[in-house]
Amino acid sequence: MNKKLIKEVKSSFKEQFKTKPLLVFSPGRINLIGEHTDYNDGFAFPAAINKGIALALSKSDSNKSTACALNMNEIYEFRTENVKPLDDGGWRNYILGVVSELQKVDKIVGNFNAVFAGNIPGGAGMSSSAALENSFVYGLNKLFKLGLSKSEMILISQKAEHNYAGVKCGIMDQYASMFGVKNSALLLDCRTVTSQPYKIDFKDYKLMLINSNVKHDLSESAYNDRREVCEKVSGLLDIEALRDASKEDLVRIKSEITDEDYQKALYVINENARVIKFSEAIKRDDIEALGNLLYQSHQGLSTNYKVSCEELDFLVERAKENPNVLGSRMMGGGFGGCTINLVKKDEFKKFKKDTANKFRKRFEKDCSVYTVKLSRGTQIVK
Ligand code: GLA
Repeated sequence: MNKKLIKEVKSSFKEQFKTKPLLVFSPGRINLIGEHTDYNDGFAFPAAINKGIALALSKSDSNKSTACALNMNEIYEFRTENVKPLDDGGWRNYILGVVSELQKVDKIVGNFNAVFAGNIPGGAGMSSSAALENSFVYGLNKLFKLGLSKSEMILISQKAEHNYAGVKCGIMDQYASMFGVKNSALLLDCRTVTSQPYKIDFKDYKLMLINSNVKHDLSESAYNDRREVCEKVSGLLDIEALRDASKEDLVRIKSEITDEDYQKALYVINENARVIKFSEAIKRDDIEALGNLLYQSHQGLSTNYKVSCEELDFLVERAKENPNVLGSRMMGGGFGGCTINLVKKDEFKKFKKDTANKFRKRFEKDCSVYTVKLSRGTQIVK
């Protein structure tokens, strides 16, 4: 695990607060396929990864709380009795959000001291915010004996994101970060909020994440807009969520909605079906089919759902040109962040170098490449 990160927060905590902390590690996530399906009660295929947030935590013996973000070298003091969202609060809002949402379900959260640090690249679409929320909800639950189950905790994290970060996210990120299983991805049903772990073996291929290092300012409002469109269309269809719609249903109301909204709803219906096809292809070891589904997913995200950007499209195009790459697509909410690629192990280095060069030439900036291991979810570190 992330021994170095944990050691860092632990020693910084001891130095500042002179006591032994409770230690929590909470991972980020990738998503193999099933993007923007979670808030449509659909399917997704995420996995927790070996990058995340390490948190050191203890009760405070004064009437204030102190949180220290080690990476940013920032400290924030507050009282748990009167939290509210801060303007431009950044990381602070995730912590305050968790505290506030716990209070809303009548849990008493005393003051605490915390030091945390992370190694998930920010803005990469690997859910550093879910990792942060989960680390706090998990740690506080333990520290103050709140008696919440993991399933209850992820709902607290999700609401913190809704009400304190202003992103009306689905449940995928918090779920994957909390429930991750080593070497596995989770076929997640976002309606029942239950999953099935799939041991992943891509044979001669390996996952490569390529970070465009782009984050567009409007990504949050655009995200919420997409969600609204989906809810509007399912309202018209008189169903609970687009999970329940077929293409035929959508055609029936085509004249009542704009073509743009039609395309978006169509994307969701298709993507949902792709997740199921993906899980079937894993079962039959059909790696090529997996790759094709990734390309199809990107096509939908880019042209129908319109959440890609030039840099991400460029990266996927370079993958398509290369016979050693079976599939590629943008990952996460979109408008920047990473692509996820299925690349032949022997050709990994070459593809990495080629793509980095082409990207630099085209955009005059660098992309970053990562590999990840599929890992366990949020946990206490002994
Ligand atoms: C973000 C959200 C998730 C999900 C993805 C898109 O990561 O937090 O809930 O909607 O975007 O699949």
